[in-house]
Amino acid sequence: MSAPLERDLAEWLDYLSVLGVRELRVRQAAAPAPAPAPLVDPPPSSSCSAQGSLGISDEFADPPAADPAARLAEIRQDIGDCSRCKLHQGRTHIVFGVGNPRARLMFVGEGPGAEEDARGEPFVGRAGKKLDEMIAAIGLRREDVYIANVVKCRPPGNRDPEPDEIATCSPFLVRQIEAIRPRVIVTLGSPAARTLLRARAGITQLRGTWHSFRGIPVMPTFHPAYLLRSYTLENRRKVFEDLKAARERMDDAGS
Ligand code: URA
Repeated sequence: MSAPLERDLAEWLDYLSVLGVRELRVRQAAAPAPAPAPLVDPPPSSSCSAQGSLGISDEFADPPAADPAARLAEIRQDIGDCSRCKLHQGRTHIVFGVGNPRARLMFVGEGPGAEEDARGEPFVGRAGKKLDEMIAAIGLRREDVYIANVVKCRPPGNRDPEPDEIATCSPFLVRQIEAIRPRVIVTLGSPAARTLLRARAGITQLRGTWHSFRGIPVMPTFHPAYLLRSYTLENRRKVFEDLKAARERMDDAGS
């Protein structure tokens, strides 16, 4: 096995152990599955630093896609009519992602809800309306950004995605990020932040500070569904502050 492959595998196994996976079963895939990409940067030296440059990281395996839309289409094709994890059993649609393939700002949620499952598009239910308002509050439109989830199929009863589901599906999210190369990522809620940042901390601790995913600045904030449940002035202010910081960082990074 080549040294980089061995290192990737070691990082991947380490990441799975953080997620709580204790056992792996190997099965023959019907079609060749994409190689799992290691998910994360090393932990940031300071929770407030954005890990150096705002530019595109050279830590991705592939050079930037000349045609991000085509790269995204390839990733969607690789997902196929997926049955890699148990979430496929209850889904109506795979919810791949939506938005501008050259978006400078990308939002990452946890997984589709009932309405998203029915329509095949992320964040179209009540939380989605709130997300649209959040996007508008920083002077952008839904079609300016890209929106995706950690898992592409609806967890039953809107529970959090489980570690094995995240481990199976998140390589596709990584490939989406790699195709789009946004200047800034905003994660929505704990599962998305923990997945990208390999953090054990909850969203209350993580939000409001800069982190990094392969050199891309990441701002974790509250999930819009949480905001709807706890619609306090303080929470709304915090989310607005997080999004304003993300917008500023995106503008600083240029086109
Ligand atoms: N919540 C999420 O995290 N993602 C969606 O797409 C919808 C609700």
